[in-house]
Amino acid sequence: MKPSILRIALLGLSILGISLLHYLTPLHLHYMHDIFQRFYYLPIILAALWFGFRGGLACALVVSVVYAPHILFQWGGGLALEMEKYLEIVMYNVVGSVTGLLAQRERERSLELQRTAEGLEESFNKLQIQSERIIAIEEQLRRSEKLSTLGEMAAVLAHEIRNPLGSIRGTAEILRDDYRPGDPKHEFIEIQIKETERLNHVVEDFLRMARQQPMELRDCSIREEVETIVTLVAKDAHDRGISLCFEPSQEQAIVRGDGEKLRQAFLNIVINALQATPPGGSVIIVLTRLESGFELCIRDSGSGISPKNLHRIFEPFFTTKPDGTGLGLAVTRKIIEGHGGTLHIESKAAAGTTVSIRLPAQEFTA
Ligand SMILES: Nc1ncnc2c1ncn2[C@@H]1O[C@H](COP(=O)(O)OP(=O)(O)O)[C@@H](O)[C@H]1O
Ligand SMILES: [Mg+2]
Repeated sequence: MKPSILRIALLGLSILGISLLHYLTPLHLHYMHDIFQRFYYLPIILAALWFGFRGGLACALVVSVVYAPHILFQWGGGLALEMEKYLEIVMYNVVGSVTGLLAQRERERSLELQRTAEGLEESFNKLQIQSERIIAIEEQLRRSEKLSTLGEMAAVLAHEIRNPLGSIRGTAEILRDDYRPGDPKHEFIEIQIKETERLNHVVEDFLRMARQQPMELRDCSIREEVETIVTLVAKDAHDRGISLCFEPSQEQAIVRGDGEKLRQAFLNIVINALQATPPGGSVIIVLTRLESGFELCIRDSGSGISPKNLHRIFEPFFTTKPDGTGLGLAVTRKIIEGHGGTLHIESKAAAGTTVSIRLPAQEFTA
């Protein structure tokens, strides 16, 4: 049963009950009648609170109609004598309508307040979403600005550094042959060669960022690119005592993109994972199909990243490795975002790291 019908039934019953008290109580118990007379206010006020002005008035009228015959016929209808009782009937109607009016106005006001609150909440949510979007775009802008100045610098530097570096390395190799292994000078020259190699890496990383040429878009298979990388680093992983495994999806996972760049991005992450993982640990690569693309997760059981470092790892040149360039993740994120994808890193110190790359499937980037 609907609550309003229940309420009406309750009001009807209480009016009936009070009226029966009036009609059945002998007239000489007039003080009882005085009390019963006030009982009527209960249903009238309730009706006004529940159903507003119209409810209050309707209930007061019903009470008047039911109560009037009692005054007229049982009390004799002497106007002067029963003045007070008729006045009570007027009071029923006044109380019913005024209470109803007030209750109704109160309800309307609280409804309006509720609507305003809802509207406010909605605009607050919208505002929040918009400001988050603005912050994200600003961040992206700052990053690309940083990377593009870096890129220009890199192009100039690379040319200036690479050639002399080649000569230093070449001549050092020739000099090394003059000394037998074990000779301190042989060691020094080894160090020299290793350091030039490192410098060369830095320059190459720089160059990769500097290359602003448009991507060569082809259909490429994430699965194949990852398989190539796994073959490439398998020996390194084995030497480090790390178990490396790839769980590909059933399909090729075709995306529209630059295969070479994507491979570079995946490789950067796999190398980071191997470098962070101690012997006996594992690096697991999982490729899964999503509703609108693919997800490649690279999970390692390595050292993890402290919360302090976590928000700095994408900064160019941020590195915690003695021989790191700090460019790997910056380049990687640029590549992934250039493909319309996202790169997400979750990590806790000493609990390993999971890097998730999401790329849209080929049919969604047309
Ligand atoms: N899988 C990982 N586990 C722990 N730390 C990581 C991992 N990947 C990246 N890092 C942290 O992020 C830093 C930046 O990485 P990256 O940009 O590739 O530069 P680099 O490898 O040359 O240091 C690393 O120095 C390391 O501190
Ligand atoms: Mg790296």
